[in-house]
Amino acid sequence: MLVILKRDNKEISREAAQLVASAVRKKPALTLGLATGGTMTGVYGHLAEFHKQGSLDFSQVVTFNLDEYLGLADRHPQSFHYFMHEHFFRHVNVDPRNIHIPDGTVRGNFVQYCAAYEDGIRKAGGIDLQILGIGRNGHIGFNEPTSSLGSRTRLKVLSQETIDDNAKFFAPGEESPRCAITMGIGTILEARKIILLATGAAKATAVAKSIEGPIASAVSASALQLHPEVTFIVDEQAASQLTQRDYYRRVLEMTALLTPERMS
Ligand code: F6R
Repeated sequence: MLVILKRDNKEISREAAQLVASAVRKKPALTLGLATGGTMTGVYGHLAEFHKQGSLDFSQVVTFNLDEYLGLADRHPQSFHYFMHEHFFRHVNVDPRNIHIPDGTVRGNFVQYCAAYEDGIRKAGGIDLQILGIGRNGHIGFNEPTSSLGSRTRLKVLSQETIDDNAKFFAPGEESPRCAITMGIGTILEARKIILLATGAAKATAVAKSIEGPIASAVSASALQLHPEVTFIVDEQAASQLTQRDYYRRVLEMTALLTPERMS
């Protein structure tokens, strides 16, 4: 596990975008796992800028988003479809046929729908690089606390904490979603490489538990300790409860010196 400590959201976004860009340049037909949320907007902004400058081509990239709210259509301004279109897809050249986001309007056989989503990932050769944010409660995707560490893509009931965090984005009187379709922790752990971004004091406890706490279903992101190629990129506030910050800095220096390929 690599822990990259940065000053603020701006630095985190730049670092993450550079890692994604370098992965796409190395493998133009990269299968990229994507996340939504406030932490991601800066990353997508940088990637869009690289594309505009002509230095990054997404024409062969295949994308799979982690999750979508159940009950929201693509054009709902709080849907993750809408978020992805606004912040990323309309600015870059990902082939629309290569974009996959769980359908929030699916009805009926959720098990079959989610199995087909997993099948799509498998047929694309598996996810090469997965980008993650983290919830205050340690969720990744919408794998809320007590999600099975082996879980697959499925319908998930949102925790009260997540519902409360999201309520501010919905119009007064509009009920915010209670459920989502999300890749499972098992699905995420199959990605070849994972980057998790965290910013702000509200994430400090979740970050510390994920990196330095025991692996537990109570903190979904702690399952990432099982993955051999995980990079956490964390700002000062989100890192404030980590006890081993000096060690992470030394590891990073030595890694850059001895195995620079691990850094890109
Ligand atoms: C969204 C997702 C979530 C968010 C997390 C952090 O696709 O997977 O796990 O990454 O809730 O959200 P922000 O960045 O808004 O704090």
